[in-house]
Amino acid sequence: MKVPEGVLRNVIVALLAEGHILIEDYPGVGKTALARALARSIDAEYARIQCTADMLPGDVVGTNIYNQRENRFEFRPGPIFANVVLVDEINRASPKTQSGLLECMQERHVTVDVTTHELARPFMVIATQNPIEYEGTFPLPEAQLDRFMVLLSLGYPSANDEAEMLAEHAARDRVMDLEPVTEVSEVLGAQLAVANVHASDALRRYVVAVLERTRADGRTELGASPRAGLMLLKAAKALAALDSRDHALPDDVQALAEPVLTHRLLLAPDAVGVERADIVRDALERVPAL
Ligand SMILES: Nc1ncnc2c1ncn2[C@@H]1O[C@H](COP(=O)(O)OP(=O)(O)OP(=O)(O)O)[C@@H](O)[C@H]1O
Ligand SMILES: [Mg+2]
Repeated sequence: MKVPEGVLRNVIVALLAEGHILIEDYPGVGKTALARALARSIDAEYARIQCTADMLPGDVVGTNIYNQRENRFEFRPGPIFANVVLVDEINRASPKTQSGLLECMQERHVTVDVTTHELARPFMVIATQNPIEYEGTFPLPEAQLDRFMVLLSLGYPSANDEAEMLAEHAARDRVMDLEPVTEVSEVLGAQLAVANVHASDALRRYVVAVLERTRADGRTELGASPRAGLMLLKAAKALAALDSRDHALPDDVQALAEPVLTHRLLLAPDAVGVERADIVRDALERVPAL
């Protein structure tokens, strides 16, 4: 699978930092292939949910069904109980289903009727949305966008990569050929290691200063939230761990600020033609790194 290096790094960062991913991209650029390849590489359970307007929250989380023979209700878990869950075209789901889904992303458990069921660990949602089709969609509200650790886009491969892919794919489905490179228990161990990466007080202040800068920027109606800061710091720790360091650096924060912060900014009504990523870049430029 050909994926831009930066994108792959951010996928691994999100996995290690226990984050969820939103992919905004065109059809046929490999979103499904990426999610399947990730699940296969870590030997994890994979599920896919295709969102439609008539889908109910129960289609995602599961439902209690009556077992006549045993005369009791049984929980039948929905696709959300897999380790890697691809949620295709999340903006086609109704707001009610979206909020049910996003709630379990955060809580990592599901309550049906009165019983709470823990989700799998690791648990990662990779949601996709198409950047050009808006008809019949329900755009995710800001509060829900905020739950995704990173926003990525795969984009089109280079001509060379694309030609190579055509040659390789001619015969068969390549994802099925992938061999796991690790296992779920090791991923859990790595997640624990990331949580133990050190961040100095100065680094935390640096993160806060960057967030504040996006809030103070006249072009934003809404800047990055405290939750955004938590995720940025966690992601920075994951990047430090990937680089075999036991402490995070401003470099880590800078490398991830754009994919972590951009989608959370709400532009001011008069900020016509402004790119949200520019606001993040400006914030990084203006805030002195320690
Ligand atoms: N960058 C890529 N590297 C390798 N294979 C790719 C790449 N992009 C697309 N493909 C191949 O093209 C086919 C379509 O990709 P895939 O189904 O993953 O796209 P998608 O983004 O999920 O599309 P959709 O929006 O329709 O769901 C698959 O066989 C996939 O392996
Ligand atoms: Mg797909």
